[in-house]
Amino acid sequence: MHQTPHRMKHSARHEFERWAHTYDRSILQRLVFQPSYRAFLTELVRWRSDDPRPFDMLDVGCGTGTWPAMVAATELPVGRLVGLDYAYAMCRLAHEKAAAIDDAAIQFVNGDSEHLPFADASFDLVTCSNSFHHYPHQGAVVREFRRLLRPGGRLMIIDGFRDNLIGWIAFDVLVARAEGDVHHAPWSLMRRYALEAGFGRVEQRKFGVLIPLFITVAHVAEL
Ligand SMILES: C[S@@+](CC[C@H](N)C(=O)[O-])C[C@H]1O[C@@H](n2cnc3c(N)ncnc32)[C@H](O)[C@@H]1O
Repeated sequence: MHQTPHRMKHSARHEFERWAHTYDRSILQRLVFQPSYRAFLTELVRWRSDDPRPFDMLDVGCGTGTWPAMVAATELPVGRLVGLDYAYAMCRLAHEKAAAIDDAAIQFVNGDSEHLPFADASFDLVTCSNSFHHYPHQGAVVREFRRLLRPGGRLMIIDGFRDNLIGWIAFDVLVARAEGDVHHAPWSLMRRYALEAGFGRVEQRKFGVLIPLFITVAHVAEL
C-alpha cells in the first residue's frame, strides 16, 4: 500500500523510535549495517589517506552513530563530524555513545533529510547508509546533499541492491513487508538522481551476496 509522503516519514520515525534501544544488538548489524560501514571506510581511506587537510562529514540517517564514531577513531584528519537522524531516540543514543568514548567532537542533530539545517557548501563528505529507502522525495534529498557539499566533495550512499532476484526478494518483498512503504531505488535511478543533482562523476559498486547492497559515490567537481 502506498502512503502519503507525510505518513511514510511518520512511520519511519515511529519504527526507529521503537527500534533504537535494541538496534545495536540486531542481527542486521552483522548482515547489513557493519558491512556498510566497512564499505564506507574503504572508500574514505582510499580517498583521504594521502590528504593532510581536515575534512568535515555529515552522516544522514545516522541511527545510533556507529559510523561517525568509527570515523572519529581513524587516524584520518577529521574536522567537523555531524550525524543527523529523524528519530529522536537514535540521536540521543548516538550522543551517549560518543560521550562514552569521550568524543565530544561529534554532534548529533534531530532532523529530516529533506530539510538539512546547514549552510550551502559546509561539508566535504555526506554519507547515508541504509536510510535512503525511507525518503519519499529521493531526488530532492540528493539535491539537498549536493547543496551541502564543497567543491571536490563527495556523496556516498549505501542501500539495498534490488536489481537481481535475491535483492528483489530481500528488499522489495521482505523488507517492504516488514517496514511498509519503502522505496529501494534501483542502481540506474540512484545514478540519475546524482547526475540530475549536478554531480560530475558517479561510481557504483555492489557488495554482499545473500543480502546484496550497493554504494554510490558521487563527486563534486573541483573549482
Ligand atoms: C536502518 S537505520 C540506518 C542507520 C545507520 N545509517 C546505519 O547504517 O546503521 C535508518 C535510519 O534512517 C533514519 N531516517 C528515516 N527517515 C529519515 C529522514 N527522513 N531523515 C533522516 N533520517 C531518517 C531512521 O530514523 C533510522 O535511524
